[in-house]
Amino acid sequence: MNTKAFIFDLDGVIVDTAKYHYLAWQKIANELNIEFTHEHNELLKGVSRVRSLDIILELGKVTASQEDKDRWLVQKNEEYLSYLVDMNESEILPGVFPILKFLKENNQPIALGSASKNARPILEKTGLLPYFDAIVDGNDVTNAKPDPEVFLIAAKLLNITPENSIVFEDSVAGVQAANIGNMTSIGIGEANTLHEAKYIFNDFTTIDTHFIEELIKE
Ligand code: BG6
Ligand code: MG
Repeated sequence: MNTKAFIFDLDGVIVDTAKYHYLAWQKIANELNIEFTHEHNELLKGVSRVRSLDIILELGKVTASQEDKDRWLVQKNEEYLSYLVDMNESEILPGVFPILKFLKENNQPIALGSASKNARPILEKTGLLPYFDAIVDGNDVTNAKPDPEVFLIAAKLLNITPENSIVFEDSVAGVQAANIGNMTSIGIGEANTLHEAKYIFNDFTTIDTHFIEELIKE
């Protein structure tokens, strides 16, 4: 059987943490009197914490000292972490676990490719850590998505070429990163947002194992 690298983004793909990031940023935006909508939030998906704050400040045309920014970054993460305290396997998005299980049973290597610096505790809390052969997160990269660095490191750790790597992503920046890295991009979410992806699914419940088998064979 062929071997492909299966690389998963975390937030919004494996767990529904995108909503917590949104709530935590919204609190900061409110305090600064900056309007921050769901559409604005799309711009932050896949984007690092530091860059996310800059985008919000740009939206509100707010200039701030580094000291203020550092304070807001800490505040945002504390707020975000407060949503994760009771996290468990019930927060794994529907359909994800059966696909991970299928990949494991078929000896396909699995990696995480996430911008988050909170990735490891989330995988631990949801019990998914043992499914990952490699973890590349916000602590390991210098260039944020759409730079393909995070996925290229992941493929390398799995010993698979980019051309034989498949990336699951819910963010525009992440889909672009996979494409720029010459990987097969699979968008998880809305087709009109993720139209640059090679394949698009609403969520993992609509991905069947036959599709995965075909990807492995390709
Ligand atoms: C990405 C999220 O996965 O991680 C972004 O899509 C988030 O919304 C980024 O800002 C960084 O996450 P963290 O947990 O390090 O703040
Ligand atoms: Mg994501």
